[in-house]
Formats: sequence, C-alpha cells, structure tokens
Amino acid sequence: MLEFLNISHSYNKQKILNDFSMKLEYGEVVSLLGPSGCGKTTLLKLASGIEKLQNGEIKLNNEIVSSPNIHLNTEKRDVGYVFQDCALFPHLTILQNIFFGMTSIEIEKQKNKIESLMKEINISRLSEKYPHELSGGQQQQVALVRAMASDPKIIFLDEPFSNLDSRLKEKIRDQMLHILREHNISALLVTHDPEEAMFMSDKIGILNNGSIEQFGSPIDLYLRPKSAFIAEFFGEINVFEGIVEDGSVNTVLGTFKCPNKFNNKKVKIVIRNEAINVFAENKLNLKKYKQPEFVTSPYFGYVMEARLLAGSTLVHLSLKVNQSNFHIHAKIPGLNFFNTNEKVFVSSDPSQIFVFKQ
Ligand SMILES: Nc1ncnc2c1ncn2[C@@H]1O[C@H](COP(=O)(O)OP(=O)(O)OP(=O)(O)O)[C@@H](O)[C@H]1O
Ligand SMILES: [Mg+2]
Repeated sequence: MLEFLNISHSYNKQKILNDFSMKLEYGEVVSLLGPSGCGKTTLLKLASGIEKLQNGEIKLNNEIVSSPNIHLNTEKRDVGYVFQDCALFPHLTILQNIFFGMTSIEIEKQKNKIESLMKEINISRLSEKYPHELSGGQQQQVALVRAMASDPKIIFLDEPFSNLDSRLKEKIRDQMLHILREHNISALLVTHDPEEAMFMSDKIGILNNGSIEQFGSPIDLYLRPKSAFIAEFFGEINVFEGIVEDGSVNTVLGTFKCPNKFNNKKVKIVIRNEAINVFAENKLNLKKYKQPEFVTSPYFGYVMEARLLAGSTLVHLSLKVNQSNFHIHAKIPGLNFFNTNEKVFVSSDPSQIFVFKQ
C-alpha cells in the first residue's frame, strides 16, 4: 500500500531522515513513534506530496509517487491528511471545510457518509459554525472527518487526538479504528502516546536518529524490545548496570539470567515498573514473595511514597545497599496502601526484564 525506500532528507544541510525504510500493507494501521523533532511529520509530508523528496523512493499502490525525479501532486495521491495543528480554513464553515476542493458530484456521492460520520462522533450541530467558534478538540474531530471525506485509500494522522480530553480521546480513537476497518482504509498514525499506538495499530515503527530502530507488532515491541530506547517507549523503566558472569548478573533487585553471549560484558538491565512486585513485610506475604517464578531482591525496600494512578499504584521505593541508595519505581495493579517508610519485600517478573549490551 505504502512503501518508504531508503529515504534521506535534510533541512538546511541538517540530515533529519537517514536511510529510512518502512512498509505499510493494504488495510493496515501503522503507528510511528519517536522523540520530538525526529522527523515524523516530515515523513507524512513526504508521503502525501506536500514536501518534495530529496533521496529515496516512496511508492503508493506499487506506483512511485516520490523520488528525486518524480513528484506526484497531493491531489493525485488519493490520500487524506489530518495535520498536527488541524489547519482548518478560518473563513469557511465546518461543512465547507469538510467538502473543500470537492466537485458537486463528489459531494453528492459522499454526503450521506459524511453526515453519518458527523453524527457518529457527535459534531453534526457544528456544521454551520466557523473554526474559531470551536474548541481545539472539536477542530480535531472536524479534521478527522475532513480527511475521510474524499474516500481516500490511506490517511495520514499527525497526532490527531492530542487536543482531546482522555475520555473523549478513548471514544474517538475507538470510533476511528472501527471506521477505518469498516471502510478498509489504511492509516499511518503519528503519536506520542504508546498506549494509543498499541490500541490503534497492527504494526508500530519507532524512529531514532533518522531511521527505524524497530518495526513490528505491538506485542513484539513490548515483549522483545531491541534496545533500552525501545523498552522505554512503552512506559517508565528502571535501569541498572552490571557485568555478566556465568550467564547471570547481580542487581539490587536480585540475580537475573542472561544469555551466555554476554559473559564478562558490561550490560544495561532494564526492568519495567510493572515488572516489580511489592509486598508488605509479613509472614503471609513471604510465600508470595518467594514464588519460584519471581526473582527476589536480597534487600528490603522502604516505601518513600505510594500514589494511586488509574487502575494501579505507583510505589517509590528506596533500597539501601551498603552506602548506596537505589530509587526504584514499581507499578502494581489495583489500589494498594503503604505507609511512608514501610518495610517491604520486593520481587520482579523476569519476563519483563531485558538485558542489553552497553
Ligand atoms: N520546513 C522546515 N525547514 C527547516 N527545518 C524543518 C522544517 N520542517 C521541519 N524541520 C526540522 O526538521 C526536524 C524534524 O521535524 P518534524 O516536524 O518532522 O519532527 P516531528 O518528529 O514531527 O516532531 P514533533 O513530535 O515535535 O511533532 C526538526 O528538527 C525541525 O526543526
Ligand atoms: Mg510532528
């Protein structure tokens, strides 16, 4: 459906994209994640034809649409685009914005679909208003409908839900996903929110230093991150350093098995917050803490603070080892109460622990 092949692109001699390649199959939703300024919007601009490509090739439906010698205009690419800043025309009403650039025959053809889309996301009442009369979130919803208006085969979404409150965001992205599936539309979504990427996507690509650091299914990236950089994208992590000896490495949280190839090497050990279990220190919990599938810490933790998040508790722990003090974050499911300075058992789930060569 969409293929980026060895894309390199610079602004003012500064290389932004460096040999970037990625493929999106027909009907797929693919998310692009990456630090601010790494070139995500640039990729969408190149794919939609807003920006001319300097090096490489972009194919849409097996046809080269961008290369140093070829540039197919945006209108001819059959793509929809939701810009990072929405970019509605201020002098046109919402309905005029949605149908902008379409012939009356095209409008007639799409009218019913647009009306039902607007109804579905509850913005029908805004049809005759002007963009300045709408909130940022409402403008984003209009931009989403506008991107679908011309029946594109693929849409590019640049942080399309960033201005919505979290409840509305959940609702709209759910509706969006069903609309995309129902109409068999592919989508390339740029987001900063890993949960959103996991919720929406068949595949996720993570950009770093101008090219793809890892590309795969959400589960692949979550369970088999290739680097600490990738692991960190899916939630807060604790990082330790150590040297592997005889296939294992010692940390303040316990001894973890490592592949033998790391023997005698300095490694970075990444432990997700949600991999760490915290139990109040008592006989009853001793059994839970000692469960063979967990790696147990030889040290007690002391609770610095415990905060309730939605559906989980974030516990700030201090583990004192000799003269050093390790500050660790554990995220445990449900509502849990701990007192400040409470002594706790700490164990970790080894399936959520990753070791990388330094
Ligand atoms: N038209 C331009 N002229 C010069 N530099 C540009 C231009 N557009 C983007 N850049 C630069 O290219 C880099 C990548 O920009 P881009 O907008 O693609 O980042 P991004 O990954 O979308 O970031 P964010 O997550 O903040 O939206 C940035 O350093 C930016 O300053
Ligand atoms: Mg951007």
